Amino acid sequence: MTDSTVQAPPSKAEAAQETAAAGPDSRPGAAIRTDDLRKTYTTSRGNVDAVRGISLDVAPGEFFGLLGPNGAGKSTTIGMLTTLIVPTGGRAWVSGIDVVANPVGVKRTIGVVPQNNTLDMQLSVTENLEFRGRFFGLSRRDALRRADQLVNAFGLTDRRRAMATDLSGGQARRLMIARALVHRPDVLFLDEPTAGLDPQTRVNLWDTLRALHDEGQTILLTTHYMEEAEALCDRVAVVDHGLVLAAGTIDELKQGAGADTVITVRYDGDAAAVDAATLLDGRPTVGKVETEGDQVRVFTKDPAGILGELVTAGARAGLTVRDAAQLKPSLETVFLTLTGREYRE
Ligand SMILES: Nc1ncnc2c1ncn2[C@@H]1O[C@H](COP(=O)(O)OP(=O)(O)O)[C@@H](O)[C@H]1O
Ligand SMILES: [Mg+2]
Repeated sequence: MTDSTVQAPPSKAEAAQETAAAGPDSRPGAAIRTDDLRKTYTTSRGNVDAVRGISLDVAPGEFFGLLGPNGAGKSTTIGMLTTLIVPTGGRAWVSGIDVVANPVGVKRTIGVVPQNNTLDMQLSVTENLEFRGRFFGLSRRDALRRADQLVNAFGLTDRRRAMATDLSGGQARRLMIARALVHRPDVLFLDEPTAGLDPQTRVNLWDTLRALHDEGQTILLTTHYMEEAEALCDRVAVVDHGLVLAAGTIDELKQGAGADTVITVRYDGDAAAVDAATLLDGRPTVGKVETEGDQVRVFTKDPAGILGELVTAGARAGLTVRDAAQLKPSLETVFLTLTGREYRE
């Protein structure tokens, strides 16, 4: 997926006409809205249900995150919202414009930063920005002025004449974001903006994104890094296998399904012998108790003492504890609670 496939933008009048033509389809108010959005890829080896009915509402000015492991359907969702992938079901609007009925209108209103580097490597930093401005109909003078502004705003001033090939990973990312903002889009889409960057560069980029958000930029990003979603996003939708498992602020998510501390104990034999469910039965602070193979997992509001009891009960059953872990409520426990699987980045 690259944004080099973007078509020439329509004139303002054309776009207005198309938007008006979208009429009842358009949904003013929400910056992004999806209604049961779906994508099934048809391949020679069968169908892949990448997105299986996603409904979202993102308000103007919001910093929204799609968080999920590899293959969850994040890029497919962003692809449909940015008109590069045609949905096979449901509907979606960006700035009130239907992505299927009026993809050209949507393209005018969005900035897209795909995961891979799509800079023009034959051009300098400034030229990458200037050419994008020209593409969006700015005069040469205005395009240069806008390029200057962005070069400064994105900390690339002393790299302005450098060729795109010579940029560091972090600089290239910043230039990609700057380039996506040349035409002042209403909504900025970022697909895994910090994947593959070293930790320091990642944190620097977080500062850049926070500053954009503070200026009022509506942003939707995808990430498989839980700490990234937690560090940046006003609201997050946790996605897995093409579905939204939970959505809300980080606090709401933690107070919902994942409000529990998760205790996992692994024994040196069949954990069924411990009969942990009976052991912990009737405790108001204990939620689920799962026994599988050599492992017991307890979801609880109050972890005090439980680990000790599981060790003692194991010993009574002739089992030794090989491994024990206690996870405090976090996006990780939310994911564990919702899917029964540990989160793997
Ligand atoms: N062009 C494609 N053709 C067939 N299957 C695809 C295609 N793109 C993605 N998929 C599959 O769709 C699912 C979701 O992929 P993707 O949207 O890339 O997830 P994510 O971005 O969360 O890693 C995966 O199973 C992936 O293999
Ligand atoms: Mg992806």
